Amino acid sequence: MDRPKVLVTRIIPEAGLKMVTDTCDAEVWPEELPPSRGVLLEKVRGVVGILPLITDRIDGEVMDSAGDQLTIISNYAVGYDNIEVQEATNRGILVGNTPGILTETTADLAFTLLLSASRRIGEGIDYIRDNKWKTFRPMELLGRDIHNTTLGIIGMGRIGIEVARRAKGFNMEVIYYDYRGRASIGETIGAKILSTIDELFKQADFISLHIPLTSETNHLIDASAFSKMKDTAILINTSRGPVVDSDALYEALKSKKIAYAALDVTDPEPIPPNHKLMALPNCLIVPHIGSATIETRSKMAVMAAENLLAGIRGEIPKHLVNPEALANRR
Ligand code: DGY
Repeated sequence: MDRPKVLVTRIIPEAGLKMVTDTCDAEVWPEELPPSRGVLLEKVRGVVGILPLITDRIDGEVMDSAGDQLTIISNYAVGYDNIEVQEATNRGILVGNTPGILTETTADLAFTLLLSASRRIGEGIDYIRDNKWKTFRPMELLGRDIHNTTLGIIGMGRIGIEVARRAKGFNMEVIYYDYRGRASIGETIGAKILSTIDELFKQADFISLHIPLTSETNHLIDASAFSKMKDTAILINTSRGPVVDSDALYEALKSKKIAYAALDVTDPEPIPPNHKLMALPNCLIVPHIGSATIETRSKMAVMAAENLLAGIRGEIPKHLVNPEALANRR
C-alpha cells in the first residue's frame, strides 16, 4: 500500500520526526528558515497531512493548493494563530496542536523573565562585558523586590495557573483578569479574579500575558493600557508579540511610563537587532524560547506526530482544535 504523503515544514526532534518518516512518504523541509510562500504552496501539493510550525502561515490558499485529499494540519505548537482554522473547518480538515506538555516550561520562562527584569540581569551582564564593574557600588543596578508585590495575570488558562503557582512561592499576591471569567480557578490557587482589566492595570506591579492572539487581543496592551499602569510596572509577554503594540511599548518604556518589559515574543518577529526596542536598557528580549527545553520540544514533536498520524488513519486526534470539522470530514 502507498505510504501517505505528508509535509513536515522543518526538522523537529527525532522522537516525533521518526514516527512520521517511519510510516509516511514524508518530505521534511531541511533548511533553518521556513519555506517561502511559493515553495510552501508547491510542496503541499498532494499531501494528506501537514506538520507546520508557527512561522508557516497555513490559510485557505495553502489548503487549496494541497488539494481535496488534505485531512490534517498538525501544528508543532499549542498556539495556532498561524492557521486559518475556520477555513480548515469549512473544508473538513482537522487541526491539531500540542497543549499541556509545554505549560510548565513556558511558565518557567515567564517567571525567569519576571525575575530577570526585576533584578536587571541583562543589564548586569552587559555591565561586566562593558568593563564597568570597578567596585561594589551602593546605588548601581538597583532593581525591584519581587516578594510582597502583586502579580497581575491576564488569561488564567493552563500557563497562567502555573505562573500563579510560581508567584505564590515567591510570596506574591496574585490577581488576574480572565476573558472566560474563570473565577473558581482563582479560589483553588489563591488568586483573586478582577472584574475589569483596567483594575488589573492599576493594581499590578508585574503584568504577565497568557492569552492567545485573536482579533480581540491584538494590541490589547496599547498606549491606553500603559497609561493606566503604575510607573513601576514590569510587563512580561510570553504569549504572542502582536498582543502588545510595539510602538506604544517603546514610548511607555522610553518615557518611563512603565519601568521595564521582558519579552519572549515580539512584533515583528524575529525582531531585528537594530529595532528601537533593542536599544532600550529597560527592555529585555529573548527569541521565542518559551517551550525551548530538550524535554518539552521532544514531547511536542511526539504529540504533533501522534495528531498527524491519527488524522491520516481517519481517527480523531487527541488534541483537536476544531472538532466541528469532523462533521465535514473528507
Ligand atoms: C506555542 O507552542 O504556541 C509556542 O509559542 C511555541 O512553542
